[in-house]
Amino acid sequence: ANPSLLILPGDGIGPEVMAEVERVIAWFGDKRDLSFDVETDLVGGAAYDAHGTPLHDDTMAKAHAADAVLLGAVGGPAYDDLDFSVKPERGLLRLRKEMDLFSNLRPAQCFDALADFSSLKRDIVSGLDIMIVRELTSGSYFGEPRGIFEEDGQRVGINTQRYTEAEIDRVARSAFELAMRRNKRVCSMEKANVMESGILWREVVTKVHAEYPEVGLSHMYADNGAMQLVRAPKQFDVILTDNLFGDILSDCAAMLTGSLGMLPSASLGAIGENGRPKALYEPVHGSAPDITGQSKANPIACILSFAMALRYSFDQGAEAARLEAAVEKVLADGARTGDLMGPDGGTPISTIQMGDVILA
Ligand code: NAI
Ligand code: MG
Repeated sequence: ANPSLLILPGDGIGPEVMAEVERVIAWFGDKRDLSFDVETDLVGGAAYDAHGTPLHDDTMAKAHAADAVLLGAVGGPAYDDLDFSVKPERGLLRLRKEMDLFSNLRPAQCFDALADFSSLKRDIVSGLDIMIVRELTSGSYFGEPRGIFEEDGQRVGINTQRYTEAEIDRVARSAFELAMRRNKRVCSMEKANVMESGILWREVVTKVHAEYPEVGLSHMYADNGAMQLVRAPKQFDVILTDNLFGDILSDCAAMLTGSLGMLPSASLGAIGENGRPKALYEPVHGSAPDITGQSKANPIACILSFAMALRYSFDQGAEAARLEAAVEKVLADGARTGDLMGPDGGTPISTIQMGDVILA
């Protein structure tokens, strides 16, 4: 049987960029004898419009059953005033939570052709290829107690940075596994100098590392990590960090590479009965209401998310590299959607034209 993919285009530019991915998927079936059983469903505002919920239970069940889920983007101004419980983002949060996707992979890769788009000097970023592994389901965004409480006649806002050994262990393992497929180097970032959770983090990561003797492990305080990311990002390969630091460090790393329209991501969970991790692949960008319906969106982030699926869910690293090389080539040849143009930069091509040249 073919591996199965659940495609959730979502809202705004989601369906526009996903249409190009669907052409790429069809190409792999035709030309590379690599076919997928694809099912498409609704998420976010589109699901709310149809069912009154941003993620129908049937869709959730399909996500559990699929070998991988590919998502476009959710949200948009039409849904801004909805009740919190049915907001489009809740559909995405439910997928992440119920699939228990604890390991968020955010590559920051700088194609040479786009190095001048970086916030940094070309030399510092050109050829950059790092991967941030962010813990996604625990830490300060979830720890209890949390809330705004009354204390000594004033209010106090509380979040709790809380990590169990098991939570650190499983995300550390995913980072070391990843490092084995890359350049065998992991830098773990926390604040063991001032945080108890950081002390435990460093201890557990070190313990898991003993099972991966081929991988080089270093530790860095996360504040220094932020500084090093903008000073000399190429010193890193895989960066392993928690939810809060990972949120900040991955946004910082994103800007090393230029446009939001270029950035893919993967969120992985435990290995299932099919021998594959639970997995959701999506571009980092949102639904871009300002350019929706104009074929201006850059489909590359979504296409590179599918390349990550090829590599991490389907063990097709060579085919993933083929797709990434096509992206690199069209950029080197000068193909540019609007988001990849400077102020004085010629006529952009459309979403569909970008799909055309990548396929060609
Ligand atoms: P956004 O990422 O949608 O857009 C930010 C800016 O980047 C806009 O100017 C947009 O035109 C541009 N942009 C984004 N993706 C692009 C692409 N592929 N090609 C060319 N240009 C692109 O973030 P924003 O504006 O803050 O949020 C818009 C909506 O998207 C909101 O409803 C928000 O909640 C939602 N959102 C959803 C996310 C998701 O589905 N994972 C993530 C972030 C935001
Ligand atoms: Mg963020």
